[in-house]
Amino acid sequence: MQKLIIHGGTPLSGEVYISGAKNAALPILCASLLTRETLRIENVPHLKDVITMMGLLEQIGINISIDKKFGISLTAAHLSSLVAPYEMVKTMRAAILVLGPMLARAGKAKVSLPGGCAIGLRPVDQHIKGLRAMGAKIDIEHGYIHAKANQLIGTHIVMDIVTVTGTENLMMAATLADGTTVLENAAREPEVTDLANCLVSMGAKIYGAGSGIITIEGVKSLHSTTYQVMPDRIETGTFLVAAAASGGEIHLKKTRVDILDAVLDKLVESGAEIESGEDWISLKMNNALKSVSLRTSPYPAFPTDMQAQFMVLNSVAEGTAIITETIFENRFMHAQELKRMSACIEVEGNTAVVRGVTNLDGASVMATDLRASASLVLAGLIAQGETIIDRVYHLDRGYERIEEKLSWLGAKIKRIN
Ligand code: UD1
Repeated sequence: MQKLIIHGGTPLSGEVYISGAKNAALPILCASLLTRETLRIENVPHLKDVITMMGLLEQIGINISIDKKFGISLTAAHLSSLVAPYEMVKTMRAAILVLGPMLARAGKAKVSLPGGCAIGLRPVDQHIKGLRAMGAKIDIEHGYIHAKANQLIGTHIVMDIVTVTGTENLMMAATLADGTTVLENAAREPEVTDLANCLVSMGAKIYGAGSGIITIEGVKSLHSTTYQVMPDRIETGTFLVAAAASGGEIHLKKTRVDILDAVLDKLVESGAEIESGEDWISLKMNNALKSVSLRTSPYPAFPTDMQAQFMVLNSVAEGTAIITETIFENRFMHAQELKRMSACIEVEGNTAVVRGVTNLDGASVMATDLRASASLVLAGLIAQGETIIDRVYHLDRGYERIEEKLSWLGAKIKRIN
């Protein structure tokens, strides 16, 4: 199993580009199921989750090719196997995103239930409720969702909770439904809007993406297009926190500033100086690092996917921070590992109290999930001495060329087998 070895203590400094967003690329890849024609996608990050999704789509019958400019072309002329097996869904929950498009296009789908995962229960009841409301017959048997519908029918769906992939699944299904679908209490995440923009360029009629009410007028068929995936706001935020916590100065290219308000506000509150243009952000840390309390919530509030990184920042900041996690039940597993690096953190239910200490100490730690592993990398970068991170495959699911990019910024980091 691969490990990362980091020698901490070097402030990050320099310039790095941001990759395409994982959480936009995954649903956009699935949108290819909705048409016989070719969907060509640019700026797709090279990540384990993307490769897993492409493997699943190939298994369903999609023809995939990668061109010289790293554009990915997907052609779903014939869907030969309308199944997402347990082996794939258990390694990547986002595989549930094939359910809506397969059902809408082919009238049938069999998708494994994802089950629980390290960070919480994560049910998919809202996906199922929405598809049933659109007329699908859905049975759960032997751990699989069996869905059938000759023709999905547009309807009004009020979602009980805000769910990102739930909104995306229903929005994709509704593009080919008969009539108009209204999704109320929809997720407003920028990745939902990016998917909607791709679907619109394929001929879908979608209004209101990015707001809590999305209206989709069903069309008979979608067509070919080329679409560029948006930049990854969580990768952007992770690099910014790494620079702030290490007392560095960095310039990020190929990113977007307009989708990071909640994260940038917290960085400024922590003492960072931030400048930005349309597609770049730079951060300089001239002041003492101050602790920042935060509460995770659906977009546009503070993202749960940045909570672990800010726990590291708070571990070495002046003062005490209170972090409240409201999205997932069990997303503080990094706290135990950070405590092994001398961080002072008390967890009680969904709240963590972090008291800043002068230094973290390098240690051997274990990654438990994607964002937790990012937080351990950040901790290793600022800790004194050597940090060894085990189970880095979690990191490879969501961060493209992370040790290479961090090395460009002066970090002492290497991967060993
Ligand atoms: C997506 C992101 C993930 C991010 C999360 C929250 C992708 C591929 N992943 O995950 O990185 O951390 O949003 O911003 O985009 N829930 C239900 N029933 C459902 C669906 C969800 O109860 O049918 C609950 C979940 O258990 C969780 C909350 O709703 O507590 C939000 O989950 P959701 O937005 O669905 O997360 P994902 O879409 O899986």
